[in-house]
Amino acid sequence: MPGSNPIFIPGPTNVPHRIRQALDCPMEDQRAPDLPAFTLPLLADLKRVFKTDSGQVFIYPSSGTGAWEAAMTNTLSPGDKVLASRFGQFSHLWIDLCQRQGFDVIDVDVEWGEGVPVEIYAEHLMADKAQEIKAVLVCQNETATGVTSDVAAVRRLLDDLGHPAMLYVDGVSSIASIDFRMDEWGVDVAVSGSQKGFMLPAGLGILCVSQKALEAHKQATSRRCYFDFADHIKANVDGFFPYTPAMHMLRGLRVSVDMLLEEGLENVFARHHRMAEGVRRAVDAWGLRLCAKEPKWHSDTVSAIMVPEGFDGNEVAKLAYLRYGLSLGVGLSKVQGKLFRIGHLGDLNELMLLTVLAGSEMAMRDFGIEIEAGSGVAAAEEYYRGTAKPVELNAPAAAAV
Ligand SMILES: Cc1ncc(COP(=O)(O)O)c(C=O)c1O
Repeated sequence: MPGSNPIFIPGPTNVPHRIRQALDCPMEDQRAPDLPAFTLPLLADLKRVFKTDSGQVFIYPSSGTGAWEAAMTNTLSPGDKVLASRFGQFSHLWIDLCQRQGFDVIDVDVEWGEGVPVEIYAEHLMADKAQEIKAVLVCQNETATGVTSDVAAVRRLLDDLGHPAMLYVDGVSSIASIDFRMDEWGVDVAVSGSQKGFMLPAGLGILCVSQKALEAHKQATSRRCYFDFADHIKANVDGFFPYTPAMHMLRGLRVSVDMLLEEGLENVFARHHRMAEGVRRAVDAWGLRLCAKEPKWHSDTVSAIMVPEGFDGNEVAKLAYLRYGLSLGVGLSKVQGKLFRIGHLGDLNELMLLTVLAGSEMAMRDFGIEIEAGSGVAAAEEYYRGTAKPVELNAPAAAAV
């Protein structure tokens, strides 16, 4: 197929040219004496992305699932009580991991399209007089349903009740795209991966851990080896890793962090909100609805769009791919067939979003869904036009204009 289309699945996301160039580097010696001059500032700057002074960052050659496993096995012991909620494929898989690790999970089932049920968490925490719940889990952005939950509200709840449980956040599809504040929200363990907001290929699990969780680590008896914090702490302090690091990915991560900090995290979040809002306007104009049940759950990184009764969202995504080379996200598990997803995170701008909206319209219309041609594109276009700011051109010549 001539030309090339960006992808609009909610991760992996598009890898910007600057990062691709950084990834294309010669093999290097992971024990070179000058490596710490590269790794120590990288670990320090990553803390700025998590918005923490006191937390510690760990980088694993894994995906987000590995970072989940590292988070849980390093800080908990088998039998420990974990409070979690299930409202999509990823919150479901996190619970599954906890159960397979032998934790005692209080598993709150929530309707898909809603997020973390703070009121139900409150009931469990209030009933926990002996303070046996050790961990409270929040999937900040449920990628399967396009639902964002309120991490700060869970922190307030724990504080109001004086409950000492640690707060764990799955930020795989939110960190570096949606507002996240490790220190301010008192998050103890934040989990992320390289292939979403960090705009890299899959291959790194990135964790940020509070001092409280590092203390808990000393008592935690879950079996672990590859992911053990202790080995990383010992090696990272001098700027090295306990085993062969994924150096190319780390070189890419350096540029990713530079790009995020150059744009400014608040600007990154505002850009994601604006991109998402354009998509939401399009969904309204199509006469369709999101899986997210209320605006308070709306995700700025992924929109899960319900297809009308009698149609299959996965077939729409398949047709978009086969006919137009457009990659949309499919419905997973319980919502398979009921929706398709547009990922709008990472290295994206409004013209790229208009492409996916146009392609989605074409595919839905080809499939027989009654959508007025151009209606979603027009609605998004109007929103983007009305909220546009002058672009900052990257070309050196731009400075002279
Ligand atoms: C919210 C969330 N958590 C966890 C994961 C698992 O991450 P990975 O596929 O990188 O292992 C994903 C993957 O998409 C995700 O979206």
